[in-house]
Amino acid sequence: MKAGVVGAGLMGREIALVFALGGIPVILNDLDEATLERSMLWLAKLLDKGVDRGLYTRHEADTALDRIQTSPELTDLAGCSIVTEAVFEALDAKEKVLRALDNICQPECILASNTSTLPISTLAAVLGTKRRRRFLGTHYFSPVSRMKLVEVIPAFGTDAEITGQITKMLKSIGKEPVQVKDVAGFAVNRLLHAMLIEAIKLVEEGVATPADLDTACRLGLGHPIGPFALMDVVSSSLCLQVQDILHSAYGERFRPPALLKQRVAAGLTGSKDHTGWLKHE
Ligand SMILES: NC(=O)c1ccc[n+]([C@@H]2O[C@H](COP(=O)([O-])OP(=O)(O)OC[C@H]3O[C@@H](n4cnc5c(N)ncnc54)[C@H](O)[C@@H]3O)[C@@H](O)[C@H]2O)c1
Repeated sequence: MKAGVVGAGLMGREIALVFALGGIPVILNDLDEATLERSMLWLAKLLDKGVDRGLYTRHEADTALDRIQTSPELTDLAGCSIVTEAVFEALDAKEKVLRALDNICQPECILASNTSTLPISTLAAVLGTKRRRRFLGTHYFSPVSRMKLVEVIPAFGTDAEITGQITKMLKSIGKEPVQVKDVAGFAVNRLLHAMLIEAIKLVEEGVATPADLDTACRLGLGHPIGPFALMDVVSSSLCLQVQDILHSAYGERFRPPALLKQRVAAGLTGSKDHTGWLKHE
């Protein structure tokens, strides 16, 4: 078995790594060699840290890295049994890649998308009718090498047997898949954003500060990271984008809070440039 991953960004490079650590050879594809080289360097550093922390042996890390081949040519994925698409979150970009993969890959190849917000059945519409039976969503969480959850999302036309095969394969590489219906936000983003919206409303009402609410979630609810620290990592602008989608799908209960909109419009979006909700060292 050989796996393919299209898009070597934040998600794709680690999806490739998880396959490789699970013993499956991978071809990682992106638009150019320079991006692929950067991704491989990044993975090598991540593996080094894992070795230092005792997560893998040096031999396991080296073997995993050797299992990842890179190529900027999509046609090199022709021999893969499963290809995961992890390109930008834009319908036209994903449609283009999926259409090309449908032509390039063998009829038995399974195609999967790592979209966070686009309906899987909408993406399926660009595929030939036979391929639609072998297409589904596999929604990984960042950082992929640490977060065990994968939401497995069959589209209208996905064969139950294919959903079962992918679930089994994900378990075999150390993931914990859960099956979810193809609805906006799937399950986890609905749960998450219901909480994030309420957390911002608490700040708007002056009930508590972002830092204290983070402490409350960590120490009172056992969350590993508070809602504001999380928004700073993923960026407030991405949160607003997801909430806009959930709002149009589910109405008032997902209306993005005014304070979030104001902060995003003011360019206060995240921790990278010290413009987040919290003061980061
Ligand atoms: N970032 C997250 O926390 C997260 C979580 C779950 C799912 N997702 C989803 O994963 C997908 C990827 O997100 P990301 O954060 O890794 O994005 P990213 O911007 O870090 O990476 C996207 C990569 O795709 C490449 N790419 C674009 N068009 C391409 C093409 N035609 N062929 C090959 N490569 C191409 C880009 O060069 C880039 O390297 C998106 O659909 C996103 O919604 C992201």
